[in-house]
Amino acid sequence: MSEKQASQRVRVFDTTLRDGEQSPGISLNKQEKLEIAHQLARLGVDIIEAGFPITSPGDFESVQAIAREVHGPVICGLARTAKQDIDAAWEAVRDSERPRIHTFIATSDIHIERKLQTTREDVKGQARAAVAHAREYTEDVEFSPEDGSRSDIDYMAEVIQIALDEGATTINVPDTVGYTMPHEYAEMFAQLYRLVPGLRDVTVSVHCHDDLGLAVANSLAGIEAGCRQVECAINGIGERAGNASLEEIVMLLHTRQPTLGLWTGIETTEIARTSRLVSRLTGYPVQPNKAIVGRNAFAHEAGIHQDGVLKERTTYEIMDATTVGLESNAIVLGKHSGRHALHEALEEMGFRVDGQALNAAFKRFKELADRKKQITAMDLEALVTDELREEIVGYTLEWFDVEASSRRPPHAKVSVSSPEGATKEGNYTGDGPIDAVFHAIDAATGVETKLRDFQIGAVTEGQDALGEVSVVVEAHGQSGSGQAISTDIIEAAARAYVRALSVAVARSQVADGVVGLPATAQ
Ligand code: KIV
Ligand code: ZN
Repeated sequence: MSEKQASQRVRVFDTTLRDGEQSPGISLNKQEKLEIAHQLARLGVDIIEAGFPITSPGDFESVQAIAREVHGPVICGLARTAKQDIDAAWEAVRDSERPRIHTFIATSDIHIERKLQTTREDVKGQARAAVAHAREYTEDVEFSPEDGSRSDIDYMAEVIQIALDEGATTINVPDTVGYTMPHEYAEMFAQLYRLVPGLRDVTVSVHCHDDLGLAVANSLAGIEAGCRQVECAINGIGERAGNASLEEIVMLLHTRQPTLGLWTGIETTEIARTSRLVSRLTGYPVQPNKAIVGRNAFAHEAGIHQDGVLKERTTYEIMDATTVGLESNAIVLGKHSGRHALHEALEEMGFRVDGQALNAAFKRFKELADRKKQITAMDLEALVTDELREEIVGYTLEWFDVEASSRRPPHAKVSVSSPEGATKEGNYTGDGPIDAVFHAIDAATGVETKLRDFQIGAVTEGQDALGEVSVVVEAHGQSGSGQAISTDIIEAAARAYVRALSVAVARSQVADGVVGLPATAQ
């Protein structure tokens, strides 16, 4: 590779499991985070920010498991400037083949005075000590001046110079509150390169939030100004309005490569699958018109458009759906396929399913094959992802009955076993069958629950398609989300509800200091 080509390579720093996981209602367990991290490695991201290890034992364990088991990308842990944060981040990532510590402190006056309630001088000292301490552990240290885009540029430049003097190898300047505009963000980097010439010798990074819908545009502006790392998240999830969406920035660089001359190491055909996995496990649906991964991103409704595409695809398409892996719905298995065929199909799709997990997946596959003649790759993907969630510690739905009629209100009866193993039944006559089941579950568990969000989707097309339900509930002041799939939408809804309720209850017990959070609900 020529020097020029190397200088045009943009590193993709994925923060789905850190900033993305900070989205309200998202509660990924260790197993789910690992699954996402493995998929991010398949996608070819350069760096996985796996979590914020000091924040909870669960986050620590997840980052550590990812550091130990996921190979390829750099595995990064976030830390404030406090010594114990950096120690925790290092302990969590140290077993990775390529560990990174990412430390940050705010440099805007509003954050320094109001949030940190300290002084500019103190922040300088904290930044110096943090980077120096992190460098005692590893050569790969990233430093971020939080709220960089609203910071006084001369002061921020001084802090960045300190971080460089102490050995930081990546400097990330975030638009923490999603306030900047592309020309301002580009100008900020131009000034920083002038004020801190040493930035030319390290990786400079963009990190943009989408409060004004400009996260991707701002990221591009920073990259065009010379930054060669972009921090982003799958489906754009993250604090408030989210982070720059990985799939959008990657496909922008890919599609406009002839003009921009920039490239990434992303395996674009893995994009759609990664998006589905993250959506399924977080319970955050992808809007139909979302760029790149929305259901309609490659659909043509108007007759004129359909006609044009039939004659020549590029009349109305700037990308090919297969480039982002959107046409992976070939039939892979049938009713009579055996365990070996299932194992082979799963392996081909990159799933490592053996022993007990294979037995469980095979049982689910047979149940599905009884209801659905042809099983597609997307069905298998949904089924394996669903199987992962079986381990949530908490309540279990044993069975349910629903009597639905157009002449009287539907009545539901359910049996639910508690985390302690006791089984209880509940009854309810509701406004609709799903309402009746949810209230019957409340009656069986005795937990007062408020439904906050309820989404139904289909995994594939057709009458026998797998239905996918995502539920967010609030119980004892804590929120929990749960997802489930089934060809029976009421069953999927009931299982998703029980999972969401279990997560909320587990969280409330931790908040009350009753128990430690079970590993699977962390
Ligand atoms: O938005 C932000 O400033 C962050 C930092 C921790 C990098 O997420
Ligand atoms: Zn952020």
